[in-house]
Amino acid sequence: MPESIKTSARITVNDRAAFSAPTGQSLLAALQERNIFIPSACGGHGLCGLCRIQVLSGAGAITEREEALLSKAERRAGQRLACQVQVERDLRLTIPEHFFYAREYKAEVVALRELTPDIRGITLKLSSPATMDFKAGQYIQFRIPPYAGGRLTYRAYSIASPPSQPGVLELEVKQVLNGIGSTYVFKHLKLHAAVVFSGPYGDFYLRPGNRAAVLVAGGSGMAPMRAILLDMRDRQVRRRVHYFYGARARRDLLLLGELQTLEQTLPDFQFIPALSAPLPADEWHGEIGLISDVLARHLAERFDGEAYLCGSPAMIAACIKVLHEKGVNDDRIFYDAFA
Ligand SMILES: Cc1cc2nc3c(=O)[nH]c(=O)nc-3n(C[C@H](O)[C@H](O)[C@H](O)COP(=O)(O)OP(=O)(O)OC[C@H]3O[C@@H](n4cnc5c(N)ncnc54)[C@H](O)[C@@H]3O)c2cc1C
Ligand code: FES
Repeated sequence: MPESIKTSARITVNDRAAFSAPTGQSLLAALQERNIFIPSACGGHGLCGLCRIQVLSGAGAITEREEALLSKAERRAGQRLACQVQVERDLRLTIPEHFFYAREYKAEVVALRELTPDIRGITLKLSSPATMDFKAGQYIQFRIPPYAGGRLTYRAYSIASPPSQPGVLELEVKQVLNGIGSTYVFKHLKLHAAVVFSGPYGDFYLRPGNRAAVLVAGGSGMAPMRAILLDMRDRQVRRRVHYFYGARARRDLLLLGELQTLEQTLPDFQFIPALSAPLPADEWHGEIGLISDVLARHLAERFDGEAYLCGSPAMIAACIKVLHEKGVNDDRIFYDAFA
């Protein structure tokens, strides 16, 4: 059959898995249908950049969205966005090995908690499979069903609970004005709802070793940090850790009591909350300012440890600048940008 009227194409992944897929669909969708779950936080619209994989042959021309999200060096190395590549002819690709371990899970919402006026805690009891093996700091892809005439989509949420409870996962979701996923979570998701997600994903986890570590987070960036700290407590890890957490006012500081209790139980752990816009009624005597400025004030001139950052891309960029000034190289800086 001539190439131009092909109705299916062969997709070879990491030279060890191969399958045929109908032409015309996105590579992201074709892989997902084969239970190979590639992360995507923008519903396949070419906006988040999470679905990047390496295509060795068979992909068409690069799209404008890929040009915007992939550097020249990445493009030269064959990096593509799986959501932007259409299946038209046979494809050979390479994906990170850990994507093969992501699976789809079904769960029930067993608790919903308002942690702050705009951060909601969700507790999920897994039903099928009944447990998930993950590293503290990793995230899942939550399926957002269509509502208000919209389309099915997915959003990334970090797991806020430790691996020691593999059958019950906690998430912390921040409300975003007109955001598709967060509006669903705040307005439509009900107690006992059946939900679907895939995971685990990501390489944001505490590297083994004894080096001192600073954790820096803002808003719902608390989620993976909480998982990391509770995991340290569960495994009785002894390591010097300072956790800088930024919020606007006192009412936006979540889990304060829990973190103060952790300071008592986790040896060498210090929690440093900071408010950027405290209210008079807050009677706040702690740190004030942007969390990157607070980090700059506290960190030693030549910091010899590792840094773990989680929050908005702007917060992460500001913290990386401070860390560079303090002599911390990129190979000791780990982050998840909640874009
Ligand atoms: C690895 C990772 C982990 C994450 N973990 C968490 C977590 O633990 N908790 C958490 O709360 N978030 C987390 N996030 C962020 C999360 O995945 C979502 O990106 C975030 O919740 C916003 O999604 P949304 O659907 O609510 O907003 P979106 O619908 O994606 O919209 C985001 C913004 O863009 C605007 N917008 C949308 N569409 C358009 C348009 N067509 N034109 C103009 N503007 C538009 C919206 O108004 C909104 O302000 C994580 C992200 C990543 C990558
Ligand atoms: S899924 Fe977001 S860029 Fe492809």
